[in-house]
Amino acid sequence: MKKLKFPKDFLWGTATSAYQVEGGIGNSDWSKVYPAGLACNHYNLYEKDFDLIKKLNQNAYRFSIEWSRIEPEEGKFDKREIEHYRRYLQSLKARKITTIVTLHHFTNPLWLAKIGGWANKKVVFYFSRFANRVFDEYKDLVDFWITINEPLIYGSISYLERRWPPKKRNPILFLKTLRNQITCHKKIYEIFHKSKNNFQIGIVKHNSYFEPFNSKSPLDRFNAKVYRYFWNEYFLNRIKNHLDFVGLNYYSRDKVGIKFPFQKGSENEGKWSDIGWEIYPEGIYHVLKGLKKYNLPIYITENGLADAKDKLRKDFIKNHLYWVHKAIEEGVDVKGYFHWSLMDNFEWEKGFDPRFGLIEIDYKTLERKIRPSALFYAKICKENALILCRD
Ligand code: FCB
Repeated sequence: MKKLKFPKDFLWGTATSAYQVEGGIGNSDWSKVYPAGLACNHYNLYEKDFDLIKKLNQNAYRFSIEWSRIEPEEGKFDKREIEHYRRYLQSLKARKITTIVTLHHFTNPLWLAKIGGWANKKVVFYFSRFANRVFDEYKDLVDFWITINEPLIYGSISYLERRWPPKKRNPILFLKTLRNQITCHKKIYEIFHKSKNNFQIGIVKHNSYFEPFNSKSPLDRFNAKVYRYFWNEYFLNRIKNHLDFVGLNYYSRDKVGIKFPFQKGSENEGKWSDIGWEIYPEGIYHVLKGLKKYNLPIYITENGLADAKDKLRKDFIKNHLYWVHKAIEEGVDVKGYFHWSLMDNFEWEKGFDPRFGLIEIDYKTLERKIRPSALFYAKICKENALILCRD
């Protein structure tokens, strides 16, 4: 038996986002295109869910505040919703759970979408006004702020791949979105830091482990380098002086390069999640090592898999944490791990089929059922250590 200890005060938690779990969001750009209905009804059942977080020994929770609830019409802030999130935060604090709030997790108020969303320069004014208001309301209740979740995923899927609202394929709009995200992030960082409150503010980046499809091909190796630079580093390089920490979402590895029909390259081997994402735990180690140069604390803000039968989740957690621990031993300053997700939820355009939860949701009764892997994770959270048995 081997015990891999994690650093003192390590944050152990789970992550969700408002649109995916709350239910009843009718005023966002997703509401008509991909309605999430009642989702998990977390909006009303949050106390119950926070009890489960506590029961499962997690000491931190990452979630998002839905902009379309707080500001349903441009410039009009909804007092009832502001009070709702205050109670929500107070109820986490009452349980001594560290709070990590994401300000933008993919969804937008309809009014913003109607004037061009993130591609419109005005978003800088609107989003920072929203952020500022939220900060003023909740600054005593929030430990960590995240401005934007996965800026490049959001920009590319919405403005290049046409899969998410506004379903465009327009590189110019993509680049404008990128520029506005960078400006927004920096501006909000500066506004927040005018306050003396004790908090940290950062970004959440989706970084992948890019490998050349054929490691012998210089072209493929070059390709992997280009991806690493543009996908993993470019955004961070632009905002690196405006970050207290980096949030890392790691899910999988990507093999890149030119694949001829006759070429014998190494295909992705190993296991796959229910939605076909390769499970590659070692990748998290390489991605973490890649982030070391920023010299900032790192929180793993998402890592998880769709696994309805809960057959792979336990090993998934164990193996990823093994590699996280190795990175820590080699000097990478990882300070927390958030599993995606606390419970099954609405997986964007894929709907409710993918099951990412440590807790299973019965969408008919909204009953919560703790999966065996959740108990396994709870033990790690409690011990602040990963215990490896020889089996
Ligand atoms: C991430 C998203 C999160 C969830 C997971 C599976 O890209 O941030 O909302 O959908 O993927």
